[in-house]
Amino acid sequence: MAGRIPQEFLDQLLSRVDLVEVINTRVPLRRAGHDFMACCPFHAEKTPSFSVSPRKQFYHCFGCGAHGNAIGFLIAYERLEFLDAVEELARLAGLEIPKTGSGGGDASRALLEWLACADRFFRQQLREHPTRQHAVNYLRQRGLTGQIAGVFGIGYAPPGWDSLSRILRESGAQPEEIVNAGLASRDEQNRLRDRFRDRIIFPIRDRRGRIIAFGGRALDDVATPKYLNSPETSLFHKGSELYGLYEARTRIRRLQRLVVVEGYMDVVALAQHGISYAVATLGTATSAEHIERLFRVVNDLVFCFDGDRAGRTAGWRALETALPFLRDGRQISFLFLPDGEDPDSLVRREGQAVFEQRLEQATSLADYLFAELRTRVDPDTLAGRARLAELARPLLEKLPEGHFRDLMVARLRQEAQLINTRLRLPTPVSVRLSDNNAQLTRTPLRKAIALLLYRPELAQQVALDDPALQDSREPGVRLLANLLTILHAHPTLTIAALLERYRNTREGAILERLAQWRLETPEDEYQFEKEFADILNYLRRRADPAKQWLETLLQRRTPISREERKAFRNFDRFKKV
Ligand code: GTP
Ligand code: MN
Repeated sequence: MAGRIPQEFLDQLLSRVDLVEVINTRVPLRRAGHDFMACCPFHAEKTPSFSVSPRKQFYHCFGCGAHGNAIGFLIAYERLEFLDAVEELARLAGLEIPKTGSGGGDASRALLEWLACADRFFRQQLREHPTRQHAVNYLRQRGLTGQIAGVFGIGYAPPGWDSLSRILRESGAQPEEIVNAGLASRDEQNRLRDRFRDRIIFPIRDRRGRIIAFGGRALDDVATPKYLNSPETSLFHKGSELYGLYEARTRIRRLQRLVVVEGYMDVVALAQHGISYAVATLGTATSAEHIERLFRVVNDLVFCFDGDRAGRTAGWRALETALPFLRDGRQISFLFLPDGEDPDSLVRREGQAVFEQRLEQATSLADYLFAELRTRVDPDTLAGRARLAELARPLLEKLPEGHFRDLMVARLRQEAQLINTRLRLPTPVSVRLSDNNAQLTRTPLRKAIALLLYRPELAQQVALDDPALQDSREPGVRLLANLLTILHAHPTLTIAALLERYRNTREGAILERLAQWRLETPEDEYQFEKEFADILNYLRRRADPAKQWLETLLQRRTPISREERKAFRNFDRFKKV
């Protein structure tokens, strides 16, 4: 398609538009020297590594490597096709895209035109075809009114081998175009055979409301397949489209939430009962593209699944797919339906209010995740708890950095130690904490705090008047002492609650980062108590005034005088060391 637009035009276009302006209206930029910076819109991050150069008219993310010009940005950010991106920029720049004759980029235009034509045909058949009553009765029996059928543009593909193909041919469509639009195939004699025959038709619209495909349902439960979709075409990619999204966006001005269901009929039936914010995947599992698209529209998603085994499996897959997209402010919950029910049957039986109440009470992602993992381990044993942590950690690692991730880590810590207070750990192995944030250098004190965040019960190992806490020169001792004081007063405090006390403080920022340190050794082999005790011993030694003095002397360049040596020998505490 790119070849269809003259290169000179693209050059002109890119010199007219300002990339900074194009990006800034979507992702607010801040000036940084000659360039502009922002948090990268293409991966989750807390500190900006997305840089836009006004001179080069090019963006580049140092974090994820995303880069490109204004066209590339619109393609990536708005998920536009190349031509749409060029069109959008041309509109901004007030330029006219030169006409390029037929073919190429116009091919998809032609397909869209035939799809629109097919759509008109199907809807007209629902009103006029001699066997229409059969279809109308079916829709009525499923509880749909003409009004809702109109909103979704529901139509009827009549019986007969080539009713649609003939109409399209008469309107000037080439046989190839009809096939490429996914509306017909060729039989052995090379004749066109309509794909959809004697079916209820659900048009599938893209982001801009253009019809790009159809789904067709058989009119009884004998015909197979029950549902038939358009094949993959140059316009239609099942794995990323969502049925009902366009309708929801146009019907609700300020969408807050979207409900993701499995079937066309679920979307339509929910709308029939006043819930116009449902979308369906098209017979495929929830994909990353789906989730990305949904989160472009709302911050709150509820996934509905059947309560059966297949539904549980699909739910878990959706959870795993969604984790990398759960930036702060976004939320996902899960609604598993009673056995044998789907949203369609349920909303018809219970009505809007009860169904919406179910949505309100849907299981949060955190609850679902831990509940599911608990079913896979025996949480009453030490090994089971270690296993729980082992299963959870790779999942939590998929979460982007942020408060939500911190809370989930804290929750894991809480879940994994639910049963354990008098934990005794086996023999030591090499122990290390890995720090995924390189700027925070590892000092023994920070490590002690990290361990304490990992295992708050360690607090009980230290008395509040312990000499280790006396040395006020060691940075961070005050923070450690503070934490210990809180944990002594509230021995069952969760980390989330502990961190909450430090919200928006400098210490809080440090604690959040320390809370992200990860164990490199499996938890059940980790010698928490020994490690913690070792660090405290180290701090006690450091807290010793004699030792401190000695260190000062040793760091000094000038020799130690006789007086100093004498004073040293007399130094009471030094003798004990
Ligand atoms: P109804 O029986 O009309 O209520 O449909 P349903 O949505 O309850 O059916 P089901 O749960 O069986 O299917 C959910 C979705 O899976 C449908 O909306 C289709 O997108 C897809 N699907 C179901 N059956 C078929 C099939 O036979 N072929 C294909 N390609 N997709 C199907
Ligand atoms: Mn159903």
